[in-house]
Amino acid sequence: MSRTQVGIVGAGPAGLVLGHLLNLQGIESVIVEDRDREYVEGRVRAGVLEQGTVDLLIEMGVGERLKREGLVHHGVELRFGGTGHRIPFDELAGGRGITIYGQQEVVKDLIAARLESGAPLLFGVEDVRPLAIDSDAPLLRFRHGGQERELRCEVVAGCDGFHGVCRGAVPDGSLSFRERIYPFGWLGILAQVEPSSDELIYCHHDRGFALHSMRSPQLTRLYLQCEPDEAIERWPDERIWEELHTRFACEGWSLKEGPILEKGITPMRSFVAEPMQHGRLFLAGDAVHIVPATGAKGLNLAVADVRVLANALVQWFSTGDDTLLEGYSEACLPRVWAAQHFAWWMTSMFHRMPDDRDGFTARLQRAQLAYVCSSRAAATSLAENYVGLTQLGAPEADQIV
Ligand code: APR
Ligand code: PHB
Repeated sequence: MSRTQVGIVGAGPAGLVLGHLLNLQGIESVIVEDRDREYVEGRVRAGVLEQGTVDLLIEMGVGERLKREGLVHHGVELRFGGTGHRIPFDELAGGRGITIYGQQEVVKDLIAARLESGAPLLFGVEDVRPLAIDSDAPLLRFRHGGQERELRCEVVAGCDGFHGVCRGAVPDGSLSFRERIYPFGWLGILAQVEPSSDELIYCHHDRGFALHSMRSPQLTRLYLQCEPDEAIERWPDERIWEELHTRFACEGWSLKEGPILEKGITPMRSFVAEPMQHGRLFLAGDAVHIVPATGAKGLNLAVADVRVLANALVQWFSTGDDTLLEGYSEACLPRVWAAQHFAWWMTSMFHRMPDDRDGFTARLQRAQLAYVCSSRAAATSLAENYVGLTQLGAPEADQIV
């Protein structure tokens, strides 16, 4: 049997950032991940980092490549009725912007830093079981390299994503769940072609939502609203491009095509489990909340959670004071729900609703979009949410000013 201070389940952004923050404070942790390194580093996910996330990664010493390769954006385009409208973040959101840098790149940088530090990170573990979380000696059992292993911890951090095992380790009835499943999904592609615009384009169209994003000056990321249970085989490359051209159509603008390197379907869901802790188990990131991707908040929320958790653990391990640790969930939830609201609002405003028989919802959506693009107050609300609400961003923040 081995021992550590914090047993971290999952090597996604939440688990890796937590492990690194604890490392910097001299707190021991072991990260156990059920996939192999190649899989974790190759998974194409989100790509929008709020300024607070960028600042943290740089402060943590894992921001060198991010500073070199990240694309800083100061605005976003909303496109509807065949016309584009720019929301200038720099003007409306106190000079803050966003940085485009793939989640998988963040993960690669964090894994490299972890391995270099020599702190344990086990890939390919099987059948992880968080046990005795109600006691002061929780443990993780799992199989690794064909052997049954037991890791005694003082605290377990459940950073194992939506389909992980940690949330399910909390006794029945102790958590409450709130959820919306949307009647559509996103078909996402990565194309080897320079982006067709310098900034992201969120597009509302009668045929459904479309999004133009990017990963680098040579890689474009594009999404199309599709059926929730869409079969990817129904979308050969030609059909994808044709649909993208139709939805993005705008005078004087054209979409550049290139070889499709990756294709996938993402479901759209809002989900929150509360509280985000039970006994000595603390849940963070997608393990405890999911936001639909329209607001680009998932990765940023995951990082914000573990920032609060790391701070609380430092206080507890260094002084024995558990005030911050006991208040972890309460400290995180206002930001979680603010992000939930923004993601739900963006999702509701942009997507074609399948049950909208007489077009009532579509007209409300266009009225809302027109308002956002013509009122400085409404545009400011979108901008400050998109770049990240700073008053909810700092771990010590306890009120909304
Ligand atoms: N045992 C060990 N590891 C597990 C288990 C398990 N039973 N189940 C899942 N994992 C691993 C996954 O393989 C993954 O590497 O936990 C990790 C969870 O990482 P993410 O899903 O990336 O979640 P999180 O770190 O919270 O980051 C949230 O990810 O889904 C995106 O858009 C979302 O950007 C957001 C971010
Ligand atoms: C992405 O680049 O993958 C991306 C960008 C913005 C979103 C969602 C995903 O809202």
